[in-house]
Amino acid sequence: MATEMALVKPISKFSTSSPIFSNSRYGKFTTVRMSSTSQSTAKAAAKGGKKAAKTAIKETLLTPRFYTTDFDEMEALFNTEINKNLNQSEFEALLQEFKTDYNQTHFVRNKEFKEAADKIDGPLRQIFVEFLERSCTAEFSGFLLYKELGRRLKKTNPVVAEIFSLMSRDEARHAGFLNKGLSDFNLALDLGFLTKARKYTFFKPKFIFYATYLSEKIGYWRYITIYRHLKENPEYQCYPIFKYFENWCQDENRHGDFFSALLKAQPQFLNDWKAKLWSRFFCLSVYVTMYLNDCQRTAFYEGIGLDTKEFDMHVIIETNRTTARIFPAVLDVENPEFNRRLDKMVEINEQLLAVGETSDIPLVKNLKRIPLIAALASELLAMYLMPPIESGSVDFAEFEPQLVY
Ligand SMILES: [Fe+2]
Ligand SMILES: [Fe+2]
Repeated sequence: MATEMALVKPISKFSTSSPIFSNSRYGKFTTVRMSSTSQSTAKAAAKGGKKAAKTAIKETLLTPRFYTTDFDEMEALFNTEINKNLNQSEFEALLQEFKTDYNQTHFVRNKEFKEAADKIDGPLRQIFVEFLERSCTAEFSGFLLYKELGRRLKKTNPVVAEIFSLMSRDEARHAGFLNKGLSDFNLALDLGFLTKARKYTFFKPKFIFYATYLSEKIGYWRYITIYRHLKENPEYQCYPIFKYFENWCQDENRHGDFFSALLKAQPQFLNDWKAKLWSRFFCLSVYVTMYLNDCQRTAFYEGIGLDTKEFDMHVIIETNRTTARIFPAVLDVENPEFNRRLDKMVEINEQLLAVGETSDIPLVKNLKRIPLIAALASELLAMYLMPPIESGSVDFAEFEPQLVY
């Protein structure tokens, strides 16, 4: 998994009293114990030390989430006795792909990393740390979910189970590589602690399929777009991790293709009016979450020479085109109204965040938030109700194991 997905809710944050830094087991490094998205926390993280240890966690509802599901229902879905749609030969072929392990030797670091990190300073440094933290958390989230699915499906469907285990191998590699990146900034995410301390969001299997498919494909498009941009504009190549995105994103693409095959094996999730409504809902959630998140972090994208909104719209349009091959309905994201409403949501979200920053008492803040939340909800609803694009076909959505460029 490469990107985060959250059901969009406008309330900005909640705090917990847990410490975010532990006495480091990485020697001179500071261990970040919770993923933090706040700039103040990232700044504190960069400083390290006692002052940082007192910083409260600011975890927003747009923070990458950890997922869990109904594993008994999953077992039933992948039981070949019960589900005759399971195309075992297709899964066997996919398993061979994953066993080939194209990126086994890809994630090797060199001394350029630390040297580049030392040159990144000022506000960009802090925003880089946040990028690494969020990406690492999102990748690790995929690792946990796939690992558990690999474990739980072993008896019912060993082939599908092994694919999940191999995907968790990939995600662990991605998360580990990002965490090594954090070490260039003298930080490390405490992934063991994260596993235990974070709340898990429950999704029924059907929703896990929609959400993870989108998450993998949007991750692919984000990575490949950044990679291509930096290849053309090497002057913005300020940290070598981006050079790894070309092969890295092929992992995400393969993961997405596996979910495409899983969805095909469960035609009940694709072929009725409810499937169409849910498909549109998940597309909307994923696209809006990414857009609002990224528009809060324009400094990062500008730092690597991208226009945040242009980048996001490109990723949304490409992801939507890919998704239309399998989902029975998608949003009409190429209609200018969609982009206009996204921008309107960014404005409202900024106003909401500004309310949070005022010195008003909580009651006043909440009263001020009500009309803004209503405005956000009405934009969301209007986008959801825009005429959709009928798409997908269980018959036509063939598995495509080749590299997509
Ligand atoms: Fe990944
Ligand atoms: Fe992935």
